Amino acid sequence: MPAAARPEDDASDGAYAGKEGIQRMPTVTTSMTTEAAKTSTGVPRAGTSRGGAHVAGVDDGVFSRTVDADTVVGRATSAHRFPGRRRVEVVANDRLAPGVHRLVLHDAYIARHAKPAQFIDLYSANPLRLMPRPLGVCETSGDVASVVFAVVGTGTEEFSRLSPGDGVDVLGPLGRSYDLGRPANYVLVGGGLGVPPLISAAQSLSARDDCRVTALFGYRDARFADDIVHPYADRLESIVNAEGNVIDLLDRLEGELIGSDLPPVILSCGPTPMMKAVAGWASQRGVPCQFSLEQRMGCGYGTCVTCTVDTVEGRLKVCTDGPVFTTERLGWGEGR
Ligand SMILES: Cc1cc2nc3c(=O)[nH]c(=O)nc-3n(C[C@H](O)[C@H](O)[C@H](O)COP(=O)(O)OP(=O)(O)OC[C@H]3O[C@@H](n4cnc5c(N)ncnc54)[C@H](O)[C@@H]3O)c2cc1C
Ligand code: FES
Repeated sequence: MPAAARPEDDASDGAYAGKEGIQRMPTVTTSMTTEAAKTSTGVPRAGTSRGGAHVAGVDDGVFSRTVDADTVVGRATSAHRFPGRRRVEVVANDRLAPGVHRLVLHDAYIARHAKPAQFIDLYSANPLRLMPRPLGVCETSGDVASVVFAVVGTGTEEFSRLSPGDGVDVLGPLGRSYDLGRPANYVLVGGGLGVPPLISAAQSLSARDDCRVTALFGYRDARFADDIVHPYADRLESIVNAEGNVIDLLDRLEGELIGSDLPPVILSCGPTPMMKAVAGWASQRGVPCQFSLEQRMGCGYGTCVTCTVDTVEGRLKVCTDGPVFTTERLGWGEGR
């Protein structure tokens, strides 16, 4: 397993870098000066103020003036505020497989603060496409962060045509992350384009010596993420539709997972039927699970109520109550 990847939550501006990740993801060290950092009305400016502090010299005006993205991020961070919508620079856009792209963005805030399963909202340059597109943060390195996405509609098609040097508006990171608090054998069960948050978890866990990372990825055909997760995983097994599915992989590894010295904890993301099958498999064996759900979204931060999901606690918002939910909270598991 590669050593030190990134800290779980580094609110300082201290330098850190993933070893393998930094070699594969371009790192930008120069300060970026962009056009106006756009902060349209309605976008949340402040998340929770951790210290409750309001730093002198950082006032609300910072979010409405024309400043570059680094300034927005820097001032918001030092004021313990969540930076607003801002324009960031595209560092790279790689085609990983037909219809699957990796977009690398220069944004120190996302790179330093995004936790596994958190997502960012990407905005179209077309003002008629009001709604941002949520994408899970995949890898981070230095001041850059990547997302991996499938081209499925107008927004993702537009993002697939971005070139290095282009700008794109972003908001985030948003949502709640996987709970990686306990020492465990984290079994990452991903399907299709559900793998980015699991790669983020693998990168984060690879910095620790009290955990093991077992990645079980299922693809329709091309194994586009194996090379990305490989440096962070102690064990990687992948399967394509023609060979079977992730439940086949879980069955194959059952003895090893259940009998391991470290208790297994499943983290999963992918199509809902796959995750429900994983929940059933895990609950029959008493293995705890956390699922990162995908739901159609509007705002991404809790105001539009587009993204609700039925849970045992009633209807909850995937964007702010999730996207991560446990089996118990969802009422999934045996017999469901
Ligand atoms: C928390 C979260 C994380 C995600 N992470 C990834 C990822 O890492 N990689 C990836 O490929 N996809 C991811 N998705 C799905 C991705 O957001 C959609 O594929 C994308 O929004 C489609 O946009 P579009 O304009 O191309 O499609 P269109 O169908 O043209 O979109 C129309 C509208 O519907 C919304 N929409 C359409 N499909 C989805 C969807 N599945 N989920 C949410 N909103 C949708 C769009 O955001 C847009 O507002 C994630 C979704 C969520 C909720
Ligand atoms: S997307 Fe608006 S409330 Fe969740």
